[in-house]
Amino acid sequence: MRLYLSVGLLLERHVPAGGAVICGKHIPEGTIVGVNPWVTQHDPEVFPNPEVFEPERWLATGKNKEQLAMMERSFFSFGAGSRVCIGKNISLIEIRKIIPQLLRDFDMSIEGDKEWIVKNVWFTQQQMPLCVLKRRKRHGTG
Ligand code: HEM
Repeated sequence: MRLYLSVGLLLERHVPAGGAVICGKHIPEGTIVGVNPWVTQHDPEVFPNPEVFEPERWLATGKNKEQLAMMERSFFSFGAGSRVCIGKNISLIEIRKIIPQLLRDFDMSIEGDKEWIVKNVWFTQQQMPLCVLKRRKRHGTG
């Protein structure tokens, strides 16, 4: 969810009455501003070696606590603030249930050696390669 997240363009906000100072610059009211979560979640200052899939980076053990807190603050896959995704918690529950179940029931492989292609139309959609699922044989009494 950090490396290949769902939204690949700006999460927009309107600058409120009176304007706002953003990164030291005054932005007039009514301006549409936004942050692209793909950019912040690939920022090496927040996520060292950002292109590396390294789930252990989220473990608290032996980690610089400030770095971890900054990573957690910057995790932006569901947006943030008053317009944060209202489906966030149900989605996390589903992901934590479904992924282990898929891994239990299926052997997974990537088809061929095709390049990984992601099409960005605000939502980022994986086009290639296909993921092949083969149902595992059940062992034991099940
Ligand atoms: C993995 C699954 C999901 C992801 C990654 C996701 C991501 C997002 C993101 C990035 C936003 C924009 C947040 C912002 O601008 O700060 C959003 C908004 C929203 N999401 Fe999700 N979402 C997911 C699932 C769901 C589900 C399951 C529902 C409904 C049950 C849902 C309903 C909404 C709604 C209603 C908004 C608009 C909230 C508002 O503007 O106040 N989302 N989502």
